[in-house]
Amino acid sequence: MIYTPIKFRNIELKNRWVMSPMCMYSCENGMANDFHFVHYGSRAQGGTGLIIVEATGVEPRGRITNHCMGIWNDEQAEKLQKIVNFVHENSDSKIGIQLAHAGRKGSTWNNKQISIEEGWETVAPSSIPYHPSERIPHTLSTDEVKEQVQNFKEAAKRAVQAGFDIIEIHGAHGYLIHQFLSPLSNIRTDEYGGSFENRIRFLIEIVDAVNEVLDENTALFIRVSGTEYAENGWDIESSVALAKVLKEHAVDLVDVSSGGNIHGAKISVFDGYQVPFSSQIKNEASVKTGAVGLITELDQAEKILQNGEADLIFVAREILRNPYIAVQGSFETKEDCFFPHQYTRAKIST
Ligand code: FNR
Repeated sequence: MIYTPIKFRNIELKNRWVMSPMCMYSCENGMANDFHFVHYGSRAQGGTGLIIVEATGVEPRGRITNHCMGIWNDEQAEKLQKIVNFVHENSDSKIGIQLAHAGRKGSTWNNKQISIEEGWETVAPSSIPYHPSERIPHTLSTDEVKEQVQNFKEAAKRAVQAGFDIIEIHGAHGYLIHQFLSPLSNIRTDEYGGSFENRIRFLIEIVDAVNEVLDENTALFIRVSGTEYAENGWDIESSVALAKVLKEHAVDLVDVSSGGNIHGAKISVFDGYQVPFSSQIKNEASVKTGAVGLITELDQAEKILQNGEADLIFVAREILRNPYIAVQGSFETKEDCFFPHQYTRAKIST
């Protein structure tokens, strides 16, 4: 099953292993460099079905740190194109990019807020900082919210030009979109705050704007936090309801993570701890989902898929430890998986 291809629009993934987006905090001026070329290229050589490039800012204030990736100008997109071309020319992996805006969680280093002089004034749906010790973020005006929608659209256009197969919008982990979704971080009184329909409006407008620049050759994923583990906050029922709307707006897969919006929220972490959220969203909203979070073993991944709890398996820390997780699993199961032809001799033990 994990080596069974799956199609999103015209994009066929050869297997269900996904490299989960992971910030590497290694850019200058938001630009990918040789580190990223080798980092992502080696996961393609490792047989990964889909590689998703780390959270990439749609504007400078959309970064978490000064060293995060960006795609708010063409030069940044050209650097990324070099990685995309390598993956397409040297493997049969697909490659996506996660478009992101950090909102009130921007302007940090080592998880601590840095000064406006070293960083920037953060923006948010409401004047509520992530932590009481942090600066009060600038509340986006209604017009400024619409500008952010355009930032996502422009970023997606550049990503398509660079040749990415999948666009993933980062709606999780307490970043700007999640800040709009949650009634605990969004107390706006315009059309972007209040009711569930109003709080999801920002994301839905982004989805529609991004879809305008996509065709059948680029699919659209959204990462959400299934719950934020807080009373009266964003919860799994909200996520199921959102997933139903996303489906109507031509979103191809919901990538289900959790948490990140409420400082100090209590999270119980164990193997596959977020899989139940993926399962509930998949089964109650009838959408394709990705599961992520402490999935490290072939058998564990296989079981999640066999049980109908997810359609894709996102792997983060384990694929840092083992870039060859997909090709290695294929040796165990004797399934077909990409292996660079230059390495063929490795299959012969004598
Ligand atoms: C992450 N994670 C993450 N998530 C995301 O949506 N965008 C990102 O850019 C990042 N950045 C990031 C950096 C690093 C170094 C780590 C370890 C994690 C979260 C990641 O994608 C994943 O959801 C979690 O790590 C849980 O999966 P694992 O690590 O248990 O497989």
